[in-house]
Amino acid sequence: MQPMMPRLDRRQFLRQSFAFSALAVTGAAKALALAPNASAHHILMFGDWGWQDDVAGQSSVASAMVKYAQAHKLHTDALFMLGDSWYGPLTGGIDSPRWHDQFEQMYPASVFPGPAYSIMGNHDYQRMPPEVNKRDTELAYSRRGNTRWTQPALWYTFDMPHIKVIALDSNVHGGHGNDAVNFTLTEDEQAKQLAWFAAELDKPTDAPFTVVMGHHPIFSNGPHGDHKILIADWEPLLRKHNIPLYLAGHDHDLQHLEFEGHPTSFVCSGAGGADLYDLKIPEDKRGPYAKKVYGFTHMEATTKTLTLRHIDASGNTIHAFTKSRDGKVTLLT
Ligand SMILES: [Fe+2]
Repeated sequence: MQPMMPRLDRRQFLRQSFAFSALAVTGAAKALALAPNASAHHILMFGDWGWQDDVAGQSSVASAMVKYAQAHKLHTDALFMLGDSWYGPLTGGIDSPRWHDQFEQMYPASVFPGPAYSIMGNHDYQRMPPEVNKRDTELAYSRRGNTRWTQPALWYTFDMPHIKVIALDSNVHGGHGNDAVNFTLTEDEQAKQLAWFAAELDKPTDAPFTVVMGHHPIFSNGPHGDHKILIADWEPLLRKHNIPLYLAGHDHDLQHLEFEGHPTSFVCSGAGGADLYDLKIPEDKRGPYAKKVYGFTHMEATTKTLTLRHIDASGNTIHAFTKSRDGKVTLLT
């Protein structure tokens, strides 16, 4: 996929931004700024996690999440599952043992009691084995009840403390070929979602922050690159409505991209367990952060700020920033 479109080049949205600042303090003060704020609200997120052969990568990230939550005594309000939940066959559909082994038990309710809000990745849009439509299976598993798995529709909205979240299905028509295994939104579904998204953004909200999430990044330094359909359809809406944050997975790495004059911080957290990808664009060319590493992302919300932290599978905070309501980005690492 070609990375950029002329319209955006003219507007220079993709020039590396120097509008964000770095935290001026060092040492103990910096460590304090990096530590989670117990009085804030907390969400942990990751994408691209349900690998089918070897769960070593997934297990390492899940166990880092548990240790991190316990070490910081975090009460997590929710998990955000950023898509590509199930690679490979989901034999048995909603009765597949993978639900228990790789979701319910992997991310234990004793540590993460809140809902696990999920969106569709491209691997979730597969018929695998041929008799199992994974997309419909995930929706059915959510409807079944007695689970934290929360995926009420292909696109939906929900409210967290201080955040309105708009969850989208980024499997747009034209992004994949329709074949025996992979399929996508239909053109009609895609148009309906876009109209719904625009209408949802037009609604007044009392939430200090509105956050949008979709499996495919709009901009990515990873091998999948920038997404021309989402750039055409979604990016103008993010800009128009001053959306502070777009969350994605799909590229198997951790990223945080800023663009000059753009109100949105683009965060990719697709390192939840599937095999990692080499980056296509290094962070010194477009950043401030992109790394090929297993890990997850911690989002902390207060009425005044969002704080995002990328945590690797060893529990290290490898990148962090805050975003205030006026759009100012401050790097903490
Ligand atoms: Fe993906």
